[in-house]
Amino acid sequence: MQTNAMKELLQVKDLYFQPFIAQQEITERIAQLGAELNEHYRGKRPLMIGILNGAFIFLADLCRECNFECDISFVRLSSYEGTESTGTIKTIMGLEEDIKGREVIIVEDIIDTGKTMHHFQAQLAEMQPASVRLVALLVKPDALQYDFPIHHQAFRIPNKFVLGYGLDYDGLGRNLKEIYQLRE
Ligand code: IMP
Ligand code: MG
Repeated sequence: MQTNAMKELLQVKDLYFQPFIAQQEITERIAQLGAELNEHYRGKRPLMIGILNGAFIFLADLCRECNFECDISFVRLSSYEGTESTGTIKTIMGLEEDIKGREVIIVEDIIDTGKTMHHFQAQLAEMQPASVRLVALLVKPDALQYDFPIHHQAFRIPNKFVLGYGLDYDGLGRNLKEIYQLRE
């Protein structure tokens, strides 16, 4: 017989996940991040760059908490296969905008090893933006291998694989409303 705890487990392919961060907690933290950005960018017109695929839902919710004028764009980077970072960052879709002299906000779903962000920030720096701030929904401090400022972050989480709210396991789970954690 299944216990209540077992019933809450979610199976995606060969793995089991348990509820980790509820929808309401996510909503509340994003409203707070929006308030931080509103403070910082009042009267300015930054460009928000979402990192696809994972950040599409986070950016959609975050930008609607922002009351300054902003442009929105996306790049598509990829480093993960299954539940492991491959260490090689592929640019599948690059940036079309000219960001020279502009204020840029990078919106990322999760900073894990930090390799993707390290790589992307180096690319951005060559385009000479006026400023760059990084907003991350999730950060895994114990996995981080690079040193760069994460100006706004919603949740610091243990070094375990998570999915939902934009994050996937092998393409699945992005449409879940809450965040789940791998059950080992
Ligand atoms: P990093 O380069 O190791 O920091 O990995 C960053 C990217 O890997 C993120 O943008 C995510 O797309 C993906 N990623 C890292 N950790 C997870 C996870 O726990 N679940 C799903 N995707 C993840
Ligand atoms: Mg990502």
